[in-house]
Amino acid sequence: MSISVPHGGQLINRFVAVERLRDLESKAGSLKTIQLSAREISDLELIATGVFSPLEGFMGRADYESVLKSMHLVNGLPWSLPITLSATSAEAASFNEGSEIALQDQKGLVLAILQLEEKFPFDKEKEALAAYGTNDDSHPGVAYTHSQGDVLLGGKIDMLRPPAAQAFSEHRLTPAETRQAFLEKGWNRIVAFQTRNPVHRAHEYIQKCAMEITDGLLLHPIVGATKKGDIPADVRMDCYKVLLENYYPKDRTMLSVFPAAMRYGGPKEAIFHAICRKNYGVTHFIVGRDHAGVGDFYGTYDAQNIFKEFEADALGIQPLFFDHSFYCKRCIGMASAKTCSHDASQRIALSGTKVREMLSQGIKPPPEFSRPEVAKILIEAMTK
Ligand code: ADX
Repeated sequence: MSISVPHGGQLINRFVAVERLRDLESKAGSLKTIQLSAREISDLELIATGVFSPLEGFMGRADYESVLKSMHLVNGLPWSLPITLSATSAEAASFNEGSEIALQDQKGLVLAILQLEEKFPFDKEKEALAAYGTNDDSHPGVAYTHSQGDVLLGGKIDMLRPPAAQAFSEHRLTPAETRQAFLEKGWNRIVAFQTRNPVHRAHEYIQKCAMEITDGLLLHPIVGATKKGDIPADVRMDCYKVLLENYYPKDRTMLSVFPAAMRYGGPKEAIFHAICRKNYGVTHFIVGRDHAGVGDFYGTYDAQNIFKEFEADALGIQPLFFDHSFYCKRCIGMASAKTCSHDASQRIALSGTKVREMLSQGIKPPPEFSRPEVAKILIEAMTK
């Protein structure tokens, strides 16, 4: 086994070559412009660095519709969520298909040029239902869908510069860089762990189970936009650093960020997360309970079951499924229903809300739930 081949066979790089940079930058000054949302900016970076390979830009109508209808791109490759750039009707009316548009960040800095291949109206309710299985605005992914302009702009992008003020620069490896790192380390079987929540013992348990059967772990917390109420990425990163320092073998772990926005799309986001990690070179991907879920929108194992809808070869990354894990007092260790016969009274299980309440009152959750070093960082952040 060797590291994963990129989705579609080739790692995309949409950064313009240095020789073209000056020309494109001066051209950008005379183009019509559009300002991108935080999610669109992170998607732009992910397209440019090849995390979204084989995509070379924002989706046109055919791919967009095909993805919503069948979870595949028109070329037949699996792809589960739309990657789109929206404009208001007024903006879209001023853009001509076939022209180029300068894509700006929220301060007006031009990041990229879009070759506008097509503009097309879209049905937000239909998109929400297809992507998230609901049209309920209390779902953050649905709310985002509804917040967009009414027209989508499709076409390839040419990236002039990475988004400004990038956090976690020393842990922000691109797919080309993680691939190089895996080669240097001699890792062939690599498992990635997606996360948006502060690390707890169940996370650690499933990561370490996966480490038992692979060469190394890529800890890959998402650091793009998350919903209100989620713990900020810098605090989560501090938790990871202290955990790695104290409890993991250094030569078998790597910490790097996944600069995507969280969609809270449960099953479809699990497929999307897996494909992106394949592009980083990863061979195995952890999917536990209610992966990428929010509220009660998805069943506990929906994000595992959806993998049955794809041929393993077509996805090209091996999911590793884990049951709901917990600390069992009788077993005196971490376990799941697959390995432990004791009843719920023996389990140390705390809801997210309960843990948050404890931390904000300066109370450490039990060490069976959270490592004390991690709890300390969370308490400091939440009682500031
Ligand atoms: S997620 O939105 O990124 O999925 P979170 O950071 O909580 O949220 O989860 C990261 C990964 O760990 C996901 O694959 C999730 O399914 C898994 N996971 C979280 N808690 C548990 C648990 N108690 N038991 C098993 N898997 C879990």
